Amino acid sequence: MHASDVADDLVEVLFTEAQIQARLAEMAAEIDRDYEGKDLVLVGVLRGAVMVMADLSRALTQHLEMDWMAVSSYGSGTKSSGVVRILKDLDADIAGRHVLIVDEIIDTGLTLSWLTSNLGSRGPASVEIATLLRKPEALQMPITPKYVGWDIPNEFVVGYGLDYRERYRNLRDIGTLSPKIYS
Ligand code: PRP
Repeated sequence: MHASDVADDLVEVLFTEAQIQARLAEMAAEIDRDYEGKDLVLVGVLRGAVMVMADLSRALTQHLEMDWMAVSSYGSGTKSSGVVRILKDLDADIAGRHVLIVDEIIDTGLTLSWLTSNLGSRGPASVEIATLLRKPEALQMPITPKYVGWDIPNEFVVGYGLDYRERYRNLRDIGTLSPKIYS
């Protein structure tokens, strides 16, 4: 789905498909440099990170393992509920390995702060975060992702994995959702 297919639902397109791919390529180059020769495990946070994981992993030139976790932090609305629970745990043993959590957005920071500490307790060599988007104004937890695509304003964004009531995840671009959709 392209932004033009849902133009009436969007206030604006923040990042086009081409901009997203270009930024992911830059992030991948940094990651390739930093993890050269290391045993790298990418941990995608379902479901929103599917697109970032697919494109970021393919932009990397080294061997890696992909694994997934599903945690629940949001209800069906636009606000964080403050609740994190594991819906699906890793299959991989990460002890002694370098873990890079891959997500599409850090909003309050609650999910990834909790996840970083949870994975950190499993004896990995390192745990870092790569996120495509971050909302600095919404941050409630002190977390420092090693790789950030862009900082964005505290607005409701959809597309490229980001949903509103499960819709718009398959939008190729990232856009600001019109308040008329969720109010
Ligand atoms: C999103 C996103 C992050 C989290 C960020 O997932 O993928 O994991 O919210 O929010 P936070 O910084 O306020 O914790 P969500 O819970 O919406 O699930 P989804 O990936 O299935 O859409």
